[in-house]
Amino acid sequence: MFPGQRVEPAAVEVDHAETIRYLRPDLPPLSDIARYYALSEEARWYSNGGPCYERFARRLAAYVGGDVHCVPVSNCTLGLMAALRDLVATSAPSHALVAVPSFTFIATACAIRWAGFEPLFVDIEPDSWQLDPDGLAEALARHDGTVAAVIGCSTFGTPAPAAVRAAWRAICADADVPLLIDSAAGFGALDQDGRLLGRQGETEVFSFHATKPFAIGEGGTIVTPDPDAAARLRQMINFGLDPNTHTSAVAGLNAKLSELGAATGLAMLDRFDEALAARRASARRLQARLAAYPLTYQAGSEGSTWQGLQLLLPDTEVRERAVSLAHALGVEIKTYFDPPLHRHPAFAQARVCGGLEVTEAIAGRSLSLPMANHLGARPIGRIADLLQQCFECSAS
Ligand SMILES: Cc1ncc(COP(=O)(O)O)c(C=O)c1O
Repeated sequence: MFPGQRVEPAAVEVDHAETIRYLRPDLPPLSDIARYYALSEEARWYSNGGPCYERFARRLAAYVGGDVHCVPVSNCTLGLMAALRDLVATSAPSHALVAVPSFTFIATACAIRWAGFEPLFVDIEPDSWQLDPDGLAEALARHDGTVAAVIGCSTFGTPAPAAVRAAWRAICADADVPLLIDSAAGFGALDQDGRLLGRQGETEVFSFHATKPFAIGEGGTIVTPDPDAAARLRQMINFGLDPNTHTSAVAGLNAKLSELGAATGLAMLDRFDEALAARRASARRLQARLAAYPLTYQAGSEGSTWQGLQLLLPDTEVRERAVSLAHALGVEIKTYFDPPLHRHPAFAQARVCGGLEVTEAIAGRSLSLPMANHLGARPIGRIADLLQQCFECSAS
């Protein structure tokens, strides 16, 4: 078996009309959305803080709990840009770099560049696959005086272990650099202490994209414990306009969530607990079917929202076999995040701190299996067959 060699499945006939999709987005039905959208129609108010937007912002904050403020946005990427500009405006606006893990989705690095900074890629730690505190401390020491902010991620919608997050916080406080958290897929995720993401103390940004467990199509929210920051961010996402003076003190952007998006979000909130519980049960059933295989899961994944069923295979060769087999068997899989961001052409010239060895090793073994709120016995069986054949091939 050579790397990249395609594996033929053992005489399995696949009906490709029945391909198991990687994700099966599950948005609220139109009738549920319409009940809320009627408020906007009645007010003839379709954006700029209409009745659904205001209600959605309040209900999101109540859902996260712990005295937070929510600023719904049109997507997480724009939310990250706005939050980053705001955090840096009050610290070190002339500094050029933002430290960030390379093992995350490309949107994080795009947001950094569009906000006017350059990423400084830092390695991850081997168990949680999240920004490595030692690597972060080294990056801040090596680039002392040029790092404007740090973005930690809740990679794959999984909260960083409490000790890791506390270390980010302490390292950033020591270096006097603001910390922002990209929790795109993590709305509803629980940390080790059973607290929802968003209430750990930092400003955090979530995505409500159709592929996320909290799905409204396009959208997201910034969550912050700081009421002044929330007020500034509301202006920032509306061109920076101050509602009193009708002038902009900062050059903002348009990142407002429309009324239709907010109405969808309200309908989603009504069903979210049930949807997330079903998704977690699906993940547990699939994990139970795969228990015989040497798979590694992310530390902290018990509290994850399980956007996909993310795991590590024993090595890159087995991963390549899984990719070939998945194609042949009609199971859509992903290899997030391979390549990691520092190997995307757009960021190949960006600074890296060290050799990113853990990032490279984990990227080469990573596999994301299909997930849905309701993953039935048949698809689970077919996904399990994929893994079985994958390991049978590797034993022979
Ligand atoms: C880590 C991370 N950050 C940011 C985003 C961007 O989210 P959006 O599509 O809402 O802009 C994503 C989307 O998948 C993501 O995974």
